[in-house]
Amino acid sequence: LDSAAPEKPKPKQRYPGESKGFVEEMRFVAMKLHTKDQAKEGGKEADVQPVAKWEPTITGYIRFLVDSKKVYDTMESIVAKATHPSYELFRDTGLERSERLAKDLEWFESQGHTIPEPGPAGTSYADFLTELSEKNVPAFICHFYNVYFAHSAGGRFIGKRVAEMILDGRELEFYKWDGELPELLAAVKSNLNKVAEGWTREEKNLCLEETESSFKYSGKILRTIIS
Ligand code: HEM
Repeated sequence: LDSAAPEKPKPKQRYPGESKGFVEEMRFVAMKLHTKDQAKEGGKEADVQPVAKWEPTITGYIRFLVDSKKVYDTMESIVAKATHPSYELFRDTGLERSERLAKDLEWFESQGHTIPEPGPAGTSYADFLTELSEKNVPAFICHFYNVYFAHSAGGRFIGKRVAEMILDGRELEFYKWDGELPELLAAVKSNLNKVAEGWTREEKNLCLEETESSFKYSGKILRTIIS
């Protein structure tokens, strides 16, 4: 028995992406929740209904835009009110989608389509976000990150496909930003990292664990496209 052997120091627990800042940690968890047909980095089995096989309809797509608007309206009014000081950093980021979605819906209306009230996918997410934003800052921030960054990535890809299939390629306002999108995203990323620097490891984990809920809610809204 070699009692004199020096005890090895326990390795410090590392989280994927940790060295690059907290957004990279959130991104890592989010990418793993994609299916392999959605994104190369996806960690889940291919979806039974991959986007490539979606058969969107105009009414379904309008429902998706209405429900998305409900979520963006809610997100944007939460940061405008900023019941928690951390939210103030996420006002006027240039990523806001509410006004653009309003314009898109006006356009559909001008084309003779009826714009419905938000459906259960949109209202349940909006209610959930409102409550969460008051009681759990790290969890809310996870939703904020996923909602805006998902739209800038997979969301744009889906929008392009749908437009080609049913809108004669028309590019909606939802997919346009003032200024360069990578720069807008970089500025928000830096503020997200800044906010998370003030969190304990427990709060960071709480935020990361919320990613699944974000996928669940946003996934339901996405599926209204084919409803
Ligand atoms: C990134 C596809 C749904 C959150 C991405 C990327 C793709 C993609 C291609 C880019 C990966 C890269 O950087 O190379 C899709 C498709 C979806 C989908 C096809 C559904 C059919 C979702 C959902 C969420 C989400 C429901 C969460 C609510 C994200 C996030 C990123 C991402 C946070 C990282 C963005 C960044 O690095 O800036 N997605 N996605 N995605 N997606 Fe999705």
